Amino acid sequence: MENKKRIYSAIQPSGTFTIGNYFGAMKNWVALQDEHDCLFCLANMHAITVPQEPAKLRARTYECLAMLMAIGIDPEKSILYVQSQVGAHAELSWILNCTAYMGELSRMTQYKVKSGKQGSTIRVGLFDYPVLMAADILLYQADLVPVGADQKQHVELARDIAERFNTTYSPTFTVPEPFFGTAGRRVMSLQDPTSKMSKSDTNVNGFISMTDAPNVIIKKFKRAVTDSETEVRYDPETKPGISNLMEIYSCATDQSIEAIETEFAGQGYGAFKAAVGEAVAEALKPIQEKYTLLLSDKGELDNIMKKGAAQASRIAYKTLAKAQRKVGFVLPK
Ligand code: TYM
Repeated sequence: MENKKRIYSAIQPSGTFTIGNYFGAMKNWVALQDEHDCLFCLANMHAITVPQEPAKLRARTYECLAMLMAIGIDPEKSILYVQSQVGAHAELSWILNCTAYMGELSRMTQYKVKSGKQGSTIRVGLFDYPVLMAADILLYQADLVPVGADQKQHVELARDIAERFNTTYSPTFTVPEPFFGTAGRRVMSLQDPTSKMSKSDTNVNGFISMTDAPNVIIKKFKRAVTDSETEVRYDPETKPGISNLMEIYSCATDQSIEAIETEFAGQGYGAFKAAVGEAVAEALKPIQEKYTLLLSDKGELDNIMKKGAAQASRIAYKTLAKAQRKVGFVLPK
């Protein structure tokens, strides 16, 4: 039998996906699914690490599933499922909580940033989230984890936890590696190009949602913050705004940064921003059409979730039993 590499990744259904999620991670998932053995998960257990409105979280789970299929994730080729429908995630997470150290979790940049904004109401789950993420990855013995740059530290922690567990007991988990695309690893906010584009940004002009209408997309790019020069040149240090737009254009058109510099040589920022807006609107149009169609059939989405959860469970519970045996739990006979 052919030995395909196992790919695992997940996304929180905590809002409408942005082009940061799409270009940074999801687009790579589609590219990987033909040659690899892939699992993609809607991480709703991660989503509740910060307060969520239950009805919205439920609705978004359907929306996000439809969006993953609209971008090209095919449930016939990949296992597509919802995290809370596979109980093994919570169970392995507990075992790994007893493997991970407080110190290494305290060093997680994302925790420091997110907890800083929340004062005394920080949930234990927010602190512990990287352990749940390690459980997600290790349950499926993943070789590669395609993510954006902001998740690199969490994948590295999953590696450390896997290695520690394997050394303490005996080889149990595959040690995963992060995987990045060539462009779009870190798509920045259109309003503040020094911070990451995020679906939870309170300024809607900072991000492009996957469901934004073409005229909205074009307007947001026109308003994008750049610098006082006029040359379309890639230099993330001194020209973060324009460099971000170049990366986005590169992702939307599959052109290299060099080709973009040549194409827009001598043209001002106005013409370039308009071209980026048009290109992104064009790239999202067929996705949005499919999305609307898929979302109109909730029954079919329920069937897909059910099938995905059954397929994921077969792999996950096998790994869970292995880990339980290693730590000395008596398994039911
Ligand atoms: P989440 O839901 O925040 O984001 C999903 C994916 O999108 C990427 N991403 C970006 N990439 C480039 N530029 C951006 N501005 C940008 N914003 C988001 C993220 O890097 C991520 O790849 N904890 C994860 C979900 C998760 C997971 C996992 C991922 C749970 N379990 C196991 C991999 C493996 C998260 O919150 O991603």
